[in-house]
Amino acid sequence: MADPADLAGLRLFAGAEPSALEHLAGLLEELPFFAGDVLYRQGDPGTTFLLITSGRLGVVRAEGNDEHELLEAGPGSVIGELAMLTGRNRLATVVARSDGLVLVGDVDAFDELVHMPPVHDRVAEVIARRFAEITYPVPLTLRDGTVVQVRPLLRSDRATIEDMISRQSEETLRRRFFSPGHPGQRVVSHLVEINYVDHFAWGVTADDGTTGVAAARYVRLNDEPTAADLAFGIADEFQGKGLGTSLLGALAWVAAEAGVEHFTAEVLADNRPMRAVLAKAGAVSEVPSMGTVEVRLDVEAAKLLVDPHTGEQLRQAALDVVTAAGLVLVDLD
Ligand SMILES: CC(C)(COP(=O)(O)OP(=O)(O)OC[C@H]1O[C@@H](n2cnc3c(N)ncnc32)[C@H](O)[C@@H]1OP(=O)(O)O)[C@@H](O)C(=O)NCCC(=O)NCCS
Repeated sequence: MADPADLAGLRLFAGAEPSALEHLAGLLEELPFFAGDVLYRQGDPGTTFLLITSGRLGVVRAEGNDEHELLEAGPGSVIGELAMLTGRNRLATVVARSDGLVLVGDVDAFDELVHMPPVHDRVAEVIARRFAEITYPVPLTLRDGTVVQVRPLLRSDRATIEDMISRQSEETLRRRFFSPGHPGQRVVSHLVEINYVDHFAWGVTADDGTTGVAAARYVRLNDEPTAADLAFGIADEFQGKGLGTSLLGALAWVAAEAGVEHFTAEVLADNRPMRAVLAKAGAVSEVPSMGTVEVRLDVEAAKLLVDPHTGEQLRQAALDVVTAAGLVLVDLD
């Protein structure tokens, strides 16, 4: 068991309740280290994370005969949690650069740490940065030959999303947000602060990898956890090229993995393109009321909108983020 005073001394835990620190300390083991010690090696199974309370650790990655130091971490740093959360082997070796002390914890300890109120935002930032390191785009070629890049949306995409929204026509905003005005900061926060399990989103950029051109998401229904609500926003100049159809398929490949069996959507009755996209997956619509229509469709049918090879690539690209987030981020909304 760790000493709660070691935790209380770290900026990471500023403002945390003493009782919460005591509980967390009970889930962590102390491991003293000396300069030159190897704490774990690249390729080892990752079952724990390290929280440094004193001293410095170097994170070294070997590629062929080449070794380079990715970073040197000091007190308050959390390392090694990604391999633990994704069930992958260690991506790097950790070597002590000085004498010091780490606290070692497992998934349950990490879950506890993430859910301590004052710590949560700081750890969520760390996790968001790590997710940015492991996500990669899958290229999609649209009907007219345009290539776009699709990858899980990240918190760090906020500026890209804001920029994309600022370029949308009033009609696109009306169809997406049911009002022609620009959405406020709270809506934008909702769009990017996602937990990947109950709320997953694909972000799409142009082939340059930076200009945002679309986002498509599902949000699991509270009262029906095997169903999720869809929302799409595609930049005006990228509409009508088959992207919406492909994104519905792309969402379905991830949703099936997350136990979602049905998609629902509330669509403006006059939104013909969206209704056409949903109809391609066999959507059943209720009779329109108050200008909107409720739509429901099978996730398995939507998977067929992308070819199985691309679907598998998309599933793989989302897998690590969904797995890691599933262990620690689900209750954070
Ligand atoms: C709705 C939206 C997601 C569709 O994506 P998209 O990439 O434009 O759609 P696609 O190119 O994949 O398919 C559109 C389909 O609608 C059909 N369509 C387009 N305009 C139509 C119209 N006026 N009437 C009937 N069908 C129409 C097209 O024929 C096309 O089908 P096809 O590919 O078989 O020819 C996109 O246009 C968008 O973001 N619109 C603004 C925001 C919005 O409406 N969001 C949905 C709210 S949930």
